Formats: sequence, structure tokens, C-alpha cells
Amino acid sequence: MDDIDAYLSAQTARFEDDLCELLRIPSISADPAQAPAMRAAADWVAGQFQAMGLPAELIPASGPPLVYAETPKVPGQPTVLVYGHYDVQPVEPLEEWLSPPFEPTKRGGNIYARGATDDKGQMLTHVLAARAWMATRGQLPVQLKFLIEGEEEVASEGLNAWLATDAARQKLACDVAVISDTSQFGPGQPAITYGLRGIAFCEIAVRGPRQDLHSGTFGGAVTNPINTLCKLLASLVDDQGRVTVPGFYDAVVPLSDQERKQLAELPFSDEKFREQIGVAGTTGESGYTTLERRWGRPTFDVHGIWGGQRESKTAIPARAGAKFSFRLVPNQDPERIIAAARDFLLTQCPPGIELEVSGRGAEGVVVPLDCSYMAAASRAIERGFGRAPVFIREGGSIPIVTNFRRRLGIDTLLLGWGLDDDNTHSPNEKFSLADFHRGIKASCHLWHELSKSTS
Ligand code: BES
Ligand code: MN
Ligand code: MN
Repeated sequence: MDDIDAYLSAQTARFEDDLCELLRIPSISADPAQAPAMRAAADWVAGQFQAMGLPAELIPASGPPLVYAETPKVPGQPTVLVYGHYDVQPVEPLEEWLSPPFEPTKRGGNIYARGATDDKGQMLTHVLAARAWMATRGQLPVQLKFLIEGEEEVASEGLNAWLATDAARQKLACDVAVISDTSQFGPGQPAITYGLRGIAFCEIAVRGPRQDLHSGTFGGAVTNPINTLCKLLASLVDDQGRVTVPGFYDAVVPLSDQERKQLAELPFSDEKFREQIGVAGTTGESGYTTLERRWGRPTFDVHGIWGGQRESKTAIPARAGAKFSFRLVPNQDPERIIAAARDFLLTQCPPGIELEVSGRGAEGVVVPLDCSYMAAASRAIERGFGRAPVFIREGGSIPIVTNFRRRLGIDTLLLGWGLDDDNTHSPNEKFSLADFHRGIKASCHLWHELSKSTS
């Protein structure tokens, strides 16, 4: 691998320039005004594959296109599906960014930009690793199939529809998937993620009187939609941090004593955690540690709540609403959870109020640790990062992982190069440039290690 390692060392500046090019494209999938940027980002990614002599195509979807490219089949060697996403989250609140979100800026060894870690920077490590192999050896030691989508942050509708077709299943046939869209355990401590939480994402709309009413004239005799909404949302979790929706815990797989022991052995400090996020204390489901709460237990959180007005007009608002979600653990069915939450909220709905609850979801997943691919990934990470990975779970969700299992019958290696303090989905998103290069190196070694694992 010396030739490839030497190529990587010689290319660091070029790789960073390429990353910056992609980061300059404002591919916010939730913003319809950015449709041209979505297309530009897809073209840019496809152009990377074409530049290394690989056939690449844009697969049309209901939203932004899927980018697909593959390297030739290598007889007797596994085929690996590499998934990533070129779409990014919105950037608000813009005033909190120290440098503009789409003007990538280097500070203190990091690159700051929306999408730096989620997922342009991480996804690109695999593309650049393929380039390194092509440039030095002219071919890859295993077959790679790249699938880079532009709708991950808005529920992957196009990809899911395509994945249900026979054509997609044939095209994507493979032995294992690789995704870099998660985090390391901490700075200098790489990790392989073996579990993700699922999610049931809900919206609630509350309607009261036909129009806003004077709260002096009418207050006390009319059910207030905002009062009601607050009460309803508060009713979803109790003082012990447990979700109150009937049946919510029925399917939950408890954390085994062995797994709790393993999590407790990870070097984690509650105090550092509190410092990192700027809080004096934490709360959560009683009887569980912070890591257990974040990785292995379901939760409830409100993301946005609206209604009324910010001035001091004394009115009873006609309408209010909120977005909230439950993070789920494997085996909890998001559709059932959404239906149970809706029923529970409806039974509490007071007279004079109309309620609507809608939602969509994704399942959680735990991937088996005892396959040869895992061992290969572990060796590759040790090569790239200079340290063996620890095995962790993640509280966030990557919905496609369960769909890969369902549609393609494969497991996914979740090899995250990010850090918990990368400000994912927040202002000042960043990615460590050292980790960017380590990730590229780990990826190069991964293709080598995977080719050894079946020979
Ligand atoms: N890359 C994230 C998942 C993630 C979040 C990994 C935090 C590691 C830490 C992914 O892009 C994401 O944001 N997923 C959404 C899924 C949702 C939109 C269905 C999430 O977890 O909220
Ligand atoms: Mn992501
Ligand atoms: Mn994301």
C-alpha cells in the first residue's frame, strides 16, 4: 500500500480544494429555491467519477437525482455499496455563523461549512480513495458501487421508491454497504458504529375558534389552542423521563447487561459532556447512563412550536402547532408509534379543539459485530487513524440502513469520521481536515482489507 499512501500524501492540497468546491454548492434539499444547486451538486459528484474514468449516471427521482457509479467486478472479491448524501440541512440562524455557510473556511485545522461533516466531507473520502486507487493501480481490488443521494435530510422519498424496483435491486446487488455519516467516539478515538436509533417524526395541528379572540372578552370560557398544545406535548413524557404513550415500550429490546457493561467501559465523562454542550445539568430516563440514554433508549423531543404572536396582543389564538419526534430503538415500529401517539393525544383532546397528527418514520438498527467485514473495517481504520476503533452506537438515524437490509439483504458498516462537536445541523458546522485525510486513507485500506477477507 506504500504507493497509495504516497499518492495520498502528495494530494492533500488537491483533496481539500475538491472538498471546498463541493461545499460551495448550496444543496439544501428542504429549500425548493435550491433545486438548481441540487442538480449542480449531483453533476459535480458524477463529474468526479467520470474524471477517474468510471461510468457515472444520474438516476432521475421524484426530487433531486441519485448519483450512481461503479468500478468493474473483481472475480472472487466482494462487491461493496458505498452510500452517502450530497444534500445538506438549511443554514438558519444565519447570523450565528462565524463565516458564511457556503464559503468554506479553514480555522484551527477544521473546515467550516454547511455539509462539511454531514455528509459531503465524509462521503467524499470514499470517492477520493477510489481516485487514489485508480490513479496508482488503475483498478480497485474489490468492486465498488457508489450511490449518492440528494434527499437524505428530507426522508429519501426518491431513493426509497427506486429501491423498491427490481432494476434497482439488480443494479445494487452487493455483499455489504459502507456509510461514513456518523461520528468517532471522540478526538483521536475512531469508532465503528453498530447501532442507530430510528425515528417517528410527527406534526401536530391544533385548531380552536374560527378566528383569534380578545382574551378579556372570551378568556376563561374558550379552550386556548396554545394552552392545549403545551399540555398535550407535556403529557407525552413523565417525570421519570419515560414516554407515556400506551404501548410505546412494548417492542423495546432492553439493553443487555453485557452491552451496558461494554458501554460503561468507554471512557466517557458526564462533566465533559455537559461542558461541551454548555449546560449545568442533564436529565433523561431514570436508571440509565448518559450514553445509554443517547444510544440505546427511546426518547421524545419537541423541535418547534408555533402559534399566537410575539407582541403583547391579548388574544386567544385560533391555531397552534408543533413538530416533535420520538427517537426509537431497534424493533420499535415507527408507524405503530405514530398511530399510538395520535390516539393518545386524541383521547386527551378537550372540547372546542380539533387535532390533527401526522408523521413518518424510520426504524432503528443494530448490525452484527461478528462478520469478517467488520474485522476488515477495524484493521483499515487502524491503518488510517493510527488507532484501533472502539464499537459504539449512535443516537441519530440513517433510515437507508434498514432499507438496504430489507431490499438488498445486506448489512452496513457505519464508519464515521466526524466528531460529536462538529455542529451537525447547527451553525458553524465543521469537519477536521486531519480526519478528512485519515478517512481517505482508511477508505483506501478498507478496499484492500476487504479484498483480503475473502481470499
Ligand atoms: N448524518 C445524520 C445522522 C447522524 C446524526 C449521524 C447525528 C451521527 C450523528 C443524518 O444526515 C441525519 O441527519 N439523519 C436524520 C434522519 C431524519 C431526517 C429522518 C436524523 O437523525 O435526524
Ligand atoms: Mn448525514
Ligand atoms: Mn443530517
